[in-house]
Amino acid sequence: MRSLGTNINTNVNGLMVSYNDEGPVGTPVVLFIHGFPLNKSMWNAQFEALKPTYRVIAYDVRGHGNSEAGTEDFSIELFVEDLLGFMDTLQLDQVILCGLSMGGYIALSAIEKHPERFIGLVLSDTQCLADTPEAIAKRMAAIESIREKGAELYVEQSIQNLFAVASFDTKPMEIGSVKEMMNKTTAQSMCNTLHALAVRKETCSKLSELTMPILILVGQEDKITPPKVARLMLDKTQHSTLVIVEHAGHLANIENPHQFNQQLMNFMDRYFPIDKH
Ligand code: MLT
Repeated sequence: MRSLGTNINTNVNGLMVSYNDEGPVGTPVVLFIHGFPLNKSMWNAQFEALKPTYRVIAYDVRGHGNSEAGTEDFSIELFVEDLLGFMDTLQLDQVILCGLSMGGYIALSAIEKHPERFIGLVLSDTQCLADTPEAIAKRMAAIESIREKGAELYVEQSIQNLFAVASFDTKPMEIGSVKEMMNKTTAQSMCNTLHALAVRKETCSKLSELTMPILILVGQEDKITPPKVARLMLDKTQHSTLVIVEHAGHLANIENPHQFNQQLMNFMDRYFPIDKH
């Protein structure tokens, strides 16, 4: 019997993984993967919009939210093994995958290896490019700083890059909840993940082989993965649509949930319609 609800625990690859699972049984499953260093609660607004119609699942990547970290060095490959292990545990043969930023890196890498498990893809504020040498150097400096002084300064500086300028005046609640998610991630897990992000491989070269429908979303003011890197993914994919989310930076789903959810619902209605009668 499937358990429904929030903060459910299951064992994946020897680790306790926490997830939310809501919506009607038997409908297409949208599986959400969060960004760094956040957790599954970043998808709450998308759950509210989709769960009357579709089954929605979001899990905490190891070392984030309420999932255990384990003792291994993190890598995107390890996160992909966890994703596939999680899908096997929940007996999810095929899903529509929705990843934001790091969640998109995991999604693209998983799809490269096992395209048959994914029938649709939503890429939000992410990219297929690997880190440049400058980006790697910045991540290494961040790791040093977190190890020496703790994560507080890193959190404060990161927040400045995550949101659109106007959101600092208009969205204090959203900024507060993102800060809370970041502060929940331990310094150890932050460093471990920063290293995994720095050494990740590019996924652009395989994008043209993907046959599932793809929706690409990006905040108009995203400074981390800006619209031009979203356009690069659009150009390399066959069945994709790009939407620029207004009044949003890197966390488009949190800053403009209205537009984001509308686009997500349109995509689901178009490719995975449910007979509502
Ligand atoms: C994220 O939101 O997951 C990170 O910004 C990804 C990154 O730093 O490349």
